[in-house]
Amino acid sequence: MDLGLEGRRIMVGGASRGLGAAIAEAAAEEGARTALVARQSEALRAVASRLGGVTIAADLTTADGPADATRRAIDALGGLDGLVVNSGGPPPGSFAALDETAWERAITGTLQAALRVIRTALPALDDGCDPAILLVLSSSVREPVANLVTSNVLRPGLNGLIKSLVGEIAPIRINGIAPGRIDTDRVRSLDRTRSEESGQPIEEVKAQNVARIPLGRYGEPAELGRVGAFLLSRAASYVNGVVVAVDGGMIRSLP
Ligand SMILES: NC(=O)c1ccc[n+]([C@@H]2O[C@H](COP(=O)([O-])OP(=O)(O)OC[C@H]3O[C@@H](n4cnc5c(N)ncnc54)[C@H](OP(=O)(O)O)[C@@H]3O)[C@@H](O)[C@H]2O)c1
Repeated sequence: MDLGLEGRRIMVGGASRGLGAAIAEAAAEEGARTALVARQSEALRAVASRLGGVTIAADLTTADGPADATRRAIDALGGLDGLVVNSGGPPPGSFAALDETAWERAITGTLQAALRVIRTALPALDDGCDPAILLVLSSSVREPVANLVTSNVLRPGLNGLIKSLVGEIAPIRINGIAPGRIDTDRVRSLDRTRSEESGQPIEEVKAQNVARIPLGRYGEPAELGRVGAFLLSRAASYVNGVVVAVDGGMIRSLP
């Protein structure tokens, strides 16, 4: 199957590692041209040189970072056909453990950053070819994740944004992807925090998580990257307004 991504101009947030890098990689393998956004790092430059993409060093948690990064990506690519809304995850913790500052960080980094990137990208996507937006969300859109109340509150809000925009921005398509536990720095760090807080060895924490996953393992970033590239592509031309779970069957709720 030809995904039809050849020459498509795609901006990918949080692209120096983990899920963003995996989506960028899968799209680039299909011939897409990528603008890769993350804070300045050797890792960002390494991914870009591997994929032949351009680097956009930006902090998506600042007030101007998202719009500025998006404008630079559009300039560098000469337009925009695809947008991956993604960045670092919100701070973990129970409701009791999260103070005003943590919530501020969560809302700015997860909700505001997404709104700002999408708002800036829309006019360029409107002129794009088979334009599509993909939001990297979480299994928390279907079921709350323990000790991650920020995600449980904010990700469903972004799911609501997808359902709201779908009627407003067509023919630009907009979809989400809901990772369960994909083996990235973020998930390793969450497991480490849980291990430190509970006093359980990290292997035990991981084993408890894996026990909930019918496929019996964490996912690999490339397994999510391929689904992301498909959702951005012309091959998914009639897929609109949905959130696709990539979780090895972990979440049992009906969509
Ligand atoms: N992995 C999973 O299974 C899973 C499950 C549910 C939800 N998610 C969500 O999916 C998203 C990606 O997760 P991941 O596992 O790929 O995380 P990750 O491995 O920690 O990667 C995060 C990426 O975002 C970039 N980033 C972080 N803060 C940024 C900032 N302020 N401005 C710009 N870029 C920033 C990082 O680069 P720099 O640090 O260099 O900027 C990196 O490229 C997160 O929001 C996470 O909560 C992941």
